[in-house]
Amino acid sequence: MQAFLKTGKVGSSGGAKPSTSKGPKEIKNSAAPPWVEKYRPRTVEDVVEQGEVVEVLRQCMTGGDFPNLLFYGPPGTGKTSTILAAARQLFGNMYKQRILELNASDERGIQVVRDKVKTFSQLTAANTTPEGKPCPPFKIVILDEADSMTHAAQSALRRTMEKESHSTRFCLICNYVSRIIEPLTSRCTKFRFKPLGHEKIIERLEFICKNEEITADKYVLTKLVDASGGDLRRAITCLQSVTRLKGKGIEITLEDVLEVTGVIPDKWLAKLLEVCESNDFKKVEQFVDEFLLEAYSTSQLIEQLSDRIISSDSFSDTQKAFIGENLGECAYRLLDGSSEYIQLIHLCCVIMQANRKR
Ligand SMILES: Nc1ncnc2c1ncn2[C@@H]1O[C@H](COP(=O)(O)OP(=O)(O)OP(=O)(O)O)[C@@H](O)[C@H]1O
Ligand SMILES: [Mg+2]
Repeated sequence: MQAFLKTGKVGSSGGAKPSTSKGPKEIKNSAAPPWVEKYRPRTVEDVVEQGEVVEVLRQCMTGGDFPNLLFYGPPGTGKTSTILAAARQLFGNMYKQRILELNASDERGIQVVRDKVKTFSQLTAANTTPEGKPCPPFKIVILDEADSMTHAAQSALRRTMEKESHSTRFCLICNYVSRIIEPLTSRCTKFRFKPLGHEKIIERLEFICKNEEITADKYVLTKLVDASGGDLRRAITCLQSVTRLKGKGIEITLEDVLEVTGVIPDKWLAKLLEVCESNDFKKVEQFVDEFLLEAYSTSQLIEQLSDRIISSDSFSDTQKAFIGENLGECAYRLLDGSSEYIQLIHLCCVIMQANRKR
């Protein structure tokens, strides 16, 4: 099996090496690729954090016993990258012919499962490349964002999966495993991708900063990571946006990060609690007007406020429960299209009421 690995074009160590890499997504014109693509892991060993998944996958690859796979977990944790890297390592330069990748932007109704997936699955796969190098005798159908496939389409997959098991493996990828029907999950080996730990994301960002000649204090990167909630894609995208804002070679500051991530500076939260404490409705109204002029997202405010109030010692448990319930209501109403102004006023009134419960 080691021989298969050597047939691949991809490198086998050291994370992304943009200048020397000859991955299939290498750009033909001079436009710079987004960093999430530039730093997408090229081999399964480059995948950060998901140690157990990588270990089991590596054993499957070297043992020649490759099962149907189901990857699930939150966004930006490496699901798509892992299967693409594994396929590159398995098939080397036969990679393009041996995988069929369908995601939510492709039509994946029952007809596509019957036609496209079935036709691809029925093709036989030789155990050598045209140049005579060894290559695993199967193909992989990658169904990304499988949780958005209809139940009928998922059901249609069941039979194909069994019938074509001699020549095809399936890899289903989703965020919500509960949306995949039980007969499919039971046919796959399941891998849970966990949100990435802060330390690992910071390490990866530091690696990118070094490569891109950016200077950023660890504290600034920590703030960026806090705003990304374990999603490495989001963290990398934010870092690139900040760099676009500032240009290379200039140190990134906390203000730049706040500007790009849309995180609301603490002074606004403190001011909100202060005006509610004053119990003066005029001041509340004035605050809401000022806040809305800054064009911050009210949903973001609710999220930060919830964190702040839960961890605060100035509110009793009863007050926290009362405010928390109302924050949830406001978040829901905003999603439903309610007015930001009305919800903000409501939110302040709730905190004023809670203060009286003390
Ligand atoms: N575990 C990881 N190791 C290294 N890079 C990662 C990892 N997770 C995410 N990334 C980075 O984030 C980008 C997006 O990752 P990927 O597309 O694999 O996420 P995903 O889990 O498939 O997310 P989604 O559920 O939104 O499709 C990659 O291009 C890579 O740069
Ligand atoms: Mg994905």
